[in-house]
Amino acid sequence: MAYWRGKTVLVTGATGFLGGWVCRQLLEQGAALVTIQRRARDKSQFYHAGFAARATIIEGSLSDNALLARLFADRRFDAVFHLASMVDVNAALRDPPAALHASIDTTAALLEQVRLTQPHATVIVASSDKAYGHQPVPFRESRPLEPLHPYEIAKATQDLLAQSYGKLFGLNTGITRCGNFFGGYDFAFERIIPHTISRVLRGEAPVLRSDGQFTRDFLYIEEAARAHLLLAEKLAGDPSLRGEAFNFSHGVELTILRLVRQIIVLMGSTLEPVIASTAKAEIAHLRLDSAKAAAKLEWTPALDFAAGLSRTIAWYRANQDLFA
Ligand SMILES: NC(=O)c1ccc[n+]([C@@H]2O[C@H](COP(=O)([O-])OP(=O)(O)OC[C@H]3O[C@@H](n4cnc5c(N)ncnc54)[C@H](O)[C@@H]3O)[C@@H](O)[C@H]2O)c1
Repeated sequence: MAYWRGKTVLVTGATGFLGGWVCRQLLEQGAALVTIQRRARDKSQFYHAGFAARATIIEGSLSDNALLARLFADRRFDAVFHLASMVDVNAALRDPPAALHASIDTTAALLEQVRLTQPHATVIVASSDKAYGHQPVPFRESRPLEPLHPYEIAKATQDLLAQSYGKLFGLNTGITRCGNFFGGYDFAFERIIPHTISRVLRGEAPVLRSDGQFTRDFLYIEEAARAHLLLAEKLAGDPSLRGEAFNFSHGVELTILRLVRQIIVLMGSTLEPVIASTAKAEIAHLRLDSAKAAAKLEWTPALDFAAGLSRTIAWYRANQDLFA
């Protein structure tokens, strides 16, 4: 708990889903927060929970190299959490250059600022299980990345950049490859868990983008945030972790259809899901092996998948005014 007290931390993507929870944990543990963001998003946890009043907010885009250069010239950071990205896989398929730009260029620019001005800082880059691309499960960090979809290519390239700056330039970079996040303050209703919960709350049948037989791995969002902080803490004291990537997930292998049915039952409903089968070019099966994080970081989730799911449903029930 004492690690973050008095540390100055830059968070990108602070108004996003993961960013809100990372900011919460950093503030709870006494860090001074600096964020760079394009616009206020009132519904985000960052604004809704009042973090904005406790942070230094730099308005602007990560794509603005002059802004980044000024930011790193004016302030000294102990750690940087690079969480900003374009995360909608359908949007990435419609506009690949935008997806590549949002992830790759911003990561390169940030890493370069750290290399040139603050090589002591710890940098955590959020990659994804999707960086593994299309290969047999379970995914292990020793496997080469085989991305195809623009979102996968964006995440894999970010991941490789962070590996390079850690292993080649000796920066304290660490990479997280997490399963699908779920939990409170996720307003991306195209994702299966928020979609299902919000539809059931309205008494409407959930609609599956896939044929229901895709399998996915998941990570409850508070555990995801905790994993990001833990990796930064361990990296600061262990140079052998530089440029290393780590999987973090609950290790569940649930078909989307079973997951949707489980949520419907947990919510006390009898609705039948609709299978739309409109998903294109997405990975069919995703499951992460988190043994490396357990061995090298002593990471285990405090909350399991089922407990996270119950907490998530309770959050959406209690906060319907935020998204109805
Ligand atoms: N959501 C998941 O299930 C999941 C799983 C594994 C990894 N990840 C990764 O975790 C990270 C966070 O995901 P999330 O679900 O919180 O996403 P999110 O969309 O909720 O948040 C992303 C944030 O980045 C900001 N952003 C994007 N481009 C920017 C720019 N040029 N300048 C400033 N801000 C910019 C957006 O405004 C948004 O606030 C992403 O890198 C994502 O790829 C997400």
